[in-house]
Amino acid sequence: MQFLKSAWYVAAFGDEVGKGLFERRICDESIVMFRREDGSVAALTNRCPHRFAPLSRGKLLPGGVIKCGYHGLEFDGAGACVHNPHGTGAIPAAARIRSWPAIERHGMIWLWMGLAEDADPDAIPDFSFAASAEYNTQRGVLSNRGSHELYIDNLMDLSHVPHLHPGTLGNDEMEGGKRQFLQDETTVASNTLYENVRPSPFWDMQFGGAGEPVDHWQDISWRAPAHMLLDVGVTKPGRARSEGVAILTLHIITPETATSTHYFWSASRRYAMDNTGLDKAIHEVVASAFTGEDEPMIAAVQESMGGKTFDELRPVLLAPDAAAMRVRRALKKLIAAESGQHAPVAEVADVAG
Ligand code: FES
Ligand SMILES: [Fe+2]
Repeated sequence: MQFLKSAWYVAAFGDEVGKGLFERRICDESIVMFRREDGSVAALTNRCPHRFAPLSRGKLLPGGVIKCGYHGLEFDGAGACVHNPHGTGAIPAAARIRSWPAIERHGMIWLWMGLAEDADPDAIPDFSFAASAEYNTQRGVLSNRGSHELYIDNLMDLSHVPHLHPGTLGNDEMEGGKRQFLQDETTVASNTLYENVRPSPFWDMQFGGAGEPVDHWQDISWRAPAHMLLDVGVTKPGRARSEGVAILTLHIITPETATSTHYFWSASRRYAMDNTGLDKAIHEVVASAFTGEDEPMIAAVQESMGGKTFDELRPVLLAPDAAAMRVRRALKKLIAAESGQHAPVAEVADVAG
């Protein structure tokens, strides 16, 4: 699988990178992260250029220097070798490690996986709400089996909710709905509105608990490479959304390998800010819906595909697939553009919205 390289990927939540060395595989590159003395994050390829020991097995020294745990070469946060304990102590010119542009923003550590000179911090999406004191934000990171493309499909086509999550997020009244697809230079969006429906158990619990009908919206948007923002909520039928309850959720998918991902989720709300029972309920819903239902299904889909690509298997397309198909095409185009090729012609037909 070819990953989009010229993109900001979330590598970790800020508080995952503490005082020591933190390793995570991103786009099939093992990367070691750590904090310099000023608190900024450094990210290096996790392989010593001497005998290829993972640097994450070494030590972080004062001054933000990593000491290789095998023969003791030392490297700074820019990947330059700063100490050689052997021979004359001369530093071989080739003793360098690739460093990856890293920025901590909105409570997350973002890595640029392309050429360092192309890294533009302004291209990081504005997800500041997720770190704002004006919201109560619950969050977590999960390790998932299945490619990031399958997770994008899952999130950009929420018509699976009543079928895969019938006991929590969905129910049998969530069929059809009014759907709208939008696309511009950087974003693909799919907005769904279910009018005057019985709320699902999760939403009923947030909004009175009497099972009264609601209007339920799910507005999800994608930005490259795999950053999904879902505005989801309920209000009384025909009433303004501001009179109801809504949660802004982030679903950020970072490829670990071609067939596994890191899933950074967050759920930010401005109601019941101090309700710790609701905090717990949100974690439980994510655990039961995502860990118990989406992830096992996507892992099974990956296995069922038997190593063939999506295009080779020529999937049947349904109306709600339009957004995920647009994302797949947009990603293909971006990957083709960075490798200087023409975007391959889509092998699957477009679908009607
Ligand atoms: S492998 Fe790192 S110093 Fe030898
Ligand atoms: Fe789901």
